[in-house]
Amino acid sequence: MLPSFTPALCLWTVLFWAAVPLSAQSAPAAPPAELTKDAAKIYAQFCVSCHGENLDGGLGGSLVDDIWKHGDGSDEHLTRIITGGIASLGMPAFGEVLDASRVRGQVVFIREKAARAREAGTSYAKPLDPGAVVKSEAASFRVEPLATGLGVPWSVAFLPGDAGLLIAERSGALRVWRAGALVPEPVEGTPKVWAKGQGGLLVVQAHPDFAQVGNGWIYLAFSDPSEEGSAMTAIVRGRIRDGRWVDEQDIYRAPRALYRKGGVHFGTRLVFDQGYLFFGIGERGAQEQAQDLTRPNGKIHRIFDDGRVPADNPFASVPGALPTIWSYGHRNPQGLVARPGTTGEGLEIWENEHGPRGGDELNRIKRGANFGWPLITYGMNYNGTPVSADTARDGLEQPVLHWTPSIAVCGLDFYTGGRFPGWQGNLLVGSLKQQELRRLVLDDGKVKSQEVLFRGIGRVRSVQTGPDGLVYVCLEDPGRVVRLVPAP
Ligand code: HEC
Repeated sequence: MLPSFTPALCLWTVLFWAAVPLSAQSAPAAPPAELTKDAAKIYAQFCVSCHGENLDGGLGGSLVDDIWKHGDGSDEHLTRIITGGIASLGMPAFGEVLDASRVRGQVVFIREKAARAREAGTSYAKPLDPGAVVKSEAASFRVEPLATGLGVPWSVAFLPGDAGLLIAERSGALRVWRAGALVPEPVEGTPKVWAKGQGGLLVVQAHPDFAQVGNGWIYLAFSDPSEEGSAMTAIVRGRIRDGRWVDEQDIYRAPRALYRKGGVHFGTRLVFDQGYLFFGIGERGAQEQAQDLTRPNGKIHRIFDDGRVPADNPFASVPGALPTIWSYGHRNPQGLVARPGTTGEGLEIWENEHGPRGGDELNRIKRGANFGWPLITYGMNYNGTPVSADTARDGLEQPVLHWTPSIAVCGLDFYTGGRFPGWQGNLLVGSLKQQELRRLVLDDGKVKSQEVLFRGIGRVRSVQTGPDGLVYVCLEDPGRVVRLVPAP
């Protein structure tokens, strides 16, 4: 029992200092500063002596082996133990020293370390070789390079017949891929975009009735620069004639006064349904504005696909609120898709968005709902300080699923093509950080299981099922569009 004495003693000294109000402490040489909010520092200060530098145990048990002795391993279990301790075994109660948000920080910190520990022991297929067959759970496939030598491709649009593909590059270039080859010159005359940080030409998409006479509309969503050096997500539509962008119309532009400086969190993706157009804008790095209905950022919006604003939007009659808002409390939407077969009143829109450090979310968008950022989140700030102690609150929506630690979700689509029968109705999710393409199996609106289809061949920026039933993926570094093709 002796070995337990020394760390425990140090701990109690620390606890004592932290527990005594600053005013009551006789002034030491350097008075203890306010307790840090940095989860790693808190761990180093209060936990490392017993649970080890790598959280793999010592006097206290391992926190990264997924073996839990005193509960089911849920967040609630960890929160309960950290707060209340296990007196009989020498696990101190930290509820007096660490407030709820700092305890939450420890839970996320433990999850991160556990994921890193798991990954260190994982090997995975790298189907870089175009000939290599990836054998996954429900289908075997090859990853076939389609368009290579691109800048940074962010989305593709499928054109009917043999018209090929349009590819949006971050730089603002709109590229055409036709008859097996990339047209060397980008489309001329597309709008100037703010290609800095996370900004650029975000989306290219054809109107669902593109092929009908008189339509031919192509939509572009992009980071729109102002003269003052600020930017906001905007949408235009136009047509392509003889390699030129023509007939341009503004579809969505926020008031200039609401544009923001800073290069993060633009969103977005587009969903068309029965004459409506849904899209998301990230909070542009201003967390609290996600809750502010007078701001366009941090919201999913609904407009008509010609830019008019529907009179029956949820906040249309709220004084001061922007009438385009459909839902709010979003951090940075990176995927938005309608569930195939749903439309009108029954339309199901699914969304994924980046959390901060932890707390990437998969959501089902609901009219007028508040998705909680930054009041609730499963993540913490990048510097290790908490965003919020709460992961849930009355009146705020819960995600269908959250990824903690974050995988940096990007792109989202339902698979309904004919080429991978084993993937019918599954959700495909890309990941920037993990360079993964994931397949999510749904059951009754919940995610039943996840499979990594491939990993490590580039940041996955978008994933889209083509009209041919193949899965098209935009990859970065080097920039290319690949497609998943069934293999025997
Ligand atoms: C003085 C030593 C000591 C310190 C300091 C300490 N723990 Fe523990 N902890 C223990 C012991 C002992 C157990 C029980 C281990 C066992 O049964 O194998 C435990 C158990 C736990 C468990 C439950 C594990 C399970 O299997 O259910 C969690 C979670 C935990 N500690 C987190 C923390 C965190 C976070 C900190 C810092 C804020 C911390 N501990 C600081 C000794 C310590």
